[in-house]
Amino acid sequence: MGGLATDPYICTFLSSMMGRPVIDQSPPMVKSTAFYNHGGGVVSTDVRSPVREFDIQNYYHQDNDPFAALREYRDLDPFWCEAYDGFWVFTRYDECKDIMQDTSLFSHVGAGVPKYELEYPLMPSEFDPPYQTKLRSVILPLMTAAKMDRLEPRMHTVCRDLIAGFKDQGHCDMVTEFARKYPIAIFGDLFGLPVERREEFRILAETFLHDLDAQEAAWNSIRGIIKEELEERHKAPRDDMLSGVAHSQIDGVPIEHDVAINLASTVFLGGLDTLPSNIGWAFRYLAGHPEQRHQLVEKPELAAGAAEEFLRVYPSVPKTARVAKHDARFHGVDLKGGDAVVGLVSVAHLDAEKFEDPETINFERKSNRQMAFAVGSHRCLGSHLARHELEIALQEWHAAIPDYRIPADTKFAYHGGGVFAMEHLPLEWDV
Ligand code: HEM
Repeated sequence: MGGLATDPYICTFLSSMMGRPVIDQSPPMVKSTAFYNHGGGVVSTDVRSPVREFDIQNYYHQDNDPFAALREYRDLDPFWCEAYDGFWVFTRYDECKDIMQDTSLFSHVGAGVPKYELEYPLMPSEFDPPYQTKLRSVILPLMTAAKMDRLEPRMHTVCRDLIAGFKDQGHCDMVTEFARKYPIAIFGDLFGLPVERREEFRILAETFLHDLDAQEAAWNSIRGIIKEELEERHKAPRDDMLSGVAHSQIDGVPIEHDVAINLASTVFLGGLDTLPSNIGWAFRYLAGHPEQRHQLVEKPELAAGAAEEFLRVYPSVPKTARVAKHDARFHGVDLKGGDAVVGLVSVAHLDAEKFEDPETINFERKSNRQMAFAVGSHRCLGSHLARHELEIALQEWHAAIPDYRIPADTKFAYHGGGVFAMEHLPLEWDV
């Protein structure tokens, strides 16, 4: 492992970190044209059709809500977009689910629109079963629901400490002062990052995510630190995830060192932008919906249902991408082997056939089969952790600061790409 991979697959959420644009209130680079749902099947032809414009990087919207920009594609039949060598776009729940679940037809290898090159492959993201399943088997026992439960007291403490740091000033930047700091503090414990290196790691992670010019250097530094830490664990194992990875086996033989580095680095990156993003969108919504905020204050036990609803309506990874392995008919489309496909998961989450009253955020929704963590072979390895963290953030914040608002003159900036995340979310409250 470790050589220069040509045209590698980079999973949807991590690909977002490479070269994604920040969107402010400027006009769109390419404005999507108005189009209509023709309602019938899709014509089989070598020239794929119907063709529509779809700007997969920029999601300009007048309310600065990229999810609302994607909603424009709701209930459309599949269509072909010619940008980035071409790709199919699917918008409905069953289509997105089948894209993720049908590993006989779809591959992760070479997927990702647009494609990127990374010097070191992301693991398990850039692989297909059966090898990918073996890679996952290293991480799965280290991130079980029971293990994540044990982190709960620490989650409460970290949230309380962060909030205490700005509560009395009556305002904060929710994204930079809370949503980004909280997950890395928790993951640092689980992972086993030495306390004295955490600030360095947090800055590297921030640089990797938010400074494109310094991204590659930051990524190499992150891998370098993980390499050193794994070497330490080889000499003396500890009770942490890095030790678990360092001493794991694949097919009954000790894991190769390069594989361990890539695997641990990918898991580290997986939670960096996704969870802060989900926290950010949830609080932006709640700031404008006092009645639902008060529900959370009065009944903190609703936080779990609220978290599921925010994952449904604002899934921070709003799309999924694969490549067709061979020619096949799929939901009315004649796919050619090698065709790239993209499923709009956030749009699928508004499918009225699957969700009752889908536009309404209902903390007490009875059935919520959202796919924010994906389904199938690449299902998120951090989902138990992420769910707990989101739920506890909602509880702790509303216990401490029940009423808050977004300042009137706020201009939102967010990035598009594979993860939809806000750059800043100013909040203010009375003190
Ligand atoms: C709200 C937070 C999160 C969301 C919405 C999310 C979403 C996702 C999605 C949609 C995938 C599949 C991507 C694809 O098919 O290309 C994925 C995979 C993955 N996630 Fe997460 N994630 C979150 C948090 C985390 C955390 C906290 C971690 C680790 C600490 C993590 C680690 C991973 C890894 C390692 C994979 C790759 C799994 C594989 O390819 O087999 N994620 N995540």
